[in-house]
Amino acid sequence: MRYLVFTDIHGNREALEALLEFVSRKKIDRYLCLGDLVGYGASPDETIEIVRKLKPLSLIRGNHDKAVCGLDAIETFNPMAASAITWSRKTLSREHSRYLCGLPKGPLIVDGLLTICHGAPFDEDFYIFGEFDAAEAFLYLETRIGFFGHTHFPCVYVKTEDAVEGRLVEKDRSLIRLKKNAAYLINPGSVGQPRDRNPKAACALFDSEESTVCFYRFEYDIARAQEKILAQNLPPALAERLALGI
Ligand SMILES: [Fe+2]
Repeated sequence: MRYLVFTDIHGNREALEALLEFVSRKKIDRYLCLGDLVGYGASPDETIEIVRKLKPLSLIRGNHDKAVCGLDAIETFNPMAASAITWSRKTLSREHSRYLCGLPKGPLIVDGLLTICHGAPFDEDFYIFGEFDAAEAFLYLETRIGFFGHTHFPCVYVKTEDAVEGRLVEKDRSLIRLKKNAAYLINPGSVGQPRDRNPKAACALFDSEESTVCFYRFEYDIARAQEKILAQNLPPALAERLALGI
C-alpha cells in the first residue's frame, strides 16, 4: 500500500492544489491527512471541499479545526492565529463547518499497520519537538509506525532497543528505509505553512511493502496565497511568513 501523508494545510488552497498536481502521477492507495485543514490561510472552504473528495481518506482533526468549531478556547492561540480563527468561523459555509466539527480526534489506527495523530498519540495538542518528547510519545504508540503533524517541521524519530534518535529532514527529496526492528514517529512537514525556513510545501509518501518513506518539497504559488490573505484583511504577517517558511 502506498499512503500519501500530509498535514497542516491551514486554508492554503494554492499549496494543496500544488500537492495534488505534484502527486498526480504517483500511485496512491490511501490519503492520510493529520489535521489543521483551516486557520491562518484565506481558503478554508476550498480546502475542506478538496480534501473531503479525496478517496480513500483517513482524516483527523487538528487544534485549529477544533478552535474554528468552538471546541477549543480561542484565548489559547496567539493574536495572529486567533484573528484567523475568528475570520474562519465567520466565513465557513454551514456545510463545511459541520464537516469540520465532525472530524474524529486522533490517534487513529489505519489498516492495523500505522497510527495517525495531530500532535502526539497521547494528546492531540502536544508538540513533539525533540527526542525527549518523542520518547514519551513512543510509549503511547500502539503500532510500529506513527505519523504526526502540528509542529510544521519534517522530521523522523527512530526508537531502537536502546535509544530514541531524531533528525530534521532538510532536503527537498529524501528517502528513508524503515528497519524492521525499530519504531518510527514521522512528521511529513506542513503543506500550507512550512516553518523550517524552506517555503516549499511538504508531504511524504509511505510505501508499506517497500518499507520506505519518501519526503518531498514542492513549489506552489505563494504570491497568490499571500494576495488572498491580504485581500481578506487577515494579519499581513500571515502572508509574509509564507515566503520565508517560518
Ligand atoms: Fe498546524
